[in-house]
Amino acid sequence: MSNFDRATDSPILAHGIQPYVVAHSSPPDELLTELAEETRRRFSEVSHMRIGAELGTLLTILTASTGTRRAIEIGTFTGYSSICIARGLPADGQLLCCDASEEWTSLARAYWTRSGLDDRIELRLGPAAATIAALPAEPTYGIAFVDADKTSYQAYFDLLVPRMRTGGLIVADNVLQGGNVLDETNQQANVQAIRAFNQAVTTDDRVQAVLLAVSDGLTIARKL
Ligand SMILES: C[S@@+](CC[C@H](N)C(=O)[O-])C[C@H]1O[C@@H](n2cnc3c(N)ncnc32)[C@H](O)[C@@H]1O
Repeated sequence: MSNFDRATDSPILAHGIQPYVVAHSSPPDELLTELAEETRRRFSEVSHMRIGAELGTLLTILTASTGTRRAIEIGTFTGYSSICIARGLPADGQLLCCDASEEWTSLARAYWTRSGLDDRIELRLGPAAATIAALPAEPTYGIAFVDADKTSYQAYFDLLVPRMRTGGLIVADNVLQGGNVLDETNQQANVQAIRAFNQAVTTDDRVQAVLLAVSDGLTIARKL
């Protein structure tokens, strides 16, 4: 994953387009802005992992407009995307967050409390594949956001499909890898894994999928 600043730059869009996109989407509120700033201050080396504001807004819109009551997130970090998803849920909705880092998710927990969303969010710490595999293989979730280790995307997808409701959305971030998916000479593990994942989704008859040039590339797959 490249170290670009999601507020001012994009790894895939022409220079200047990203700030325009952000400026013409509903702005994040004070809490999300503060969380982004605190993430940058406390975890500067890795703060680029946080999703951008426009993707956060899209997650809220997708969650709310699908009428999702149960959501799952793979890769929570300091909580930005989880708050955006949880805000799209009804008051009795639930979001299950999967992450391996106690340290990064401790900031997420603090902001869940501040946002008043802590009663709808549960965190399970540990390797996400094991967490998902331990969930009943029943059609439960209306939306799944996948934003963890790229080499496991296919495994997450295969674990998630049977757990999604018909019409549910699996949303996977970073599927353009800064444009590197196009460079066949690039043999980095993340890039190779995402290239194979993108190809597999295209021909997977369990879903209908679209790859959007949003953020660092976003696939939305609807379970058929
Ligand atoms: C790109 S960040 C997620 C960013 C987050 N969605 C946001 O908007 O701030 C990736 C996260 O995946 C977690 N992660 C990486 N590999 C994992 C694994 N095998 N199991 C669980 N979590 C993992 C990392 O701890 C990290 O917090």
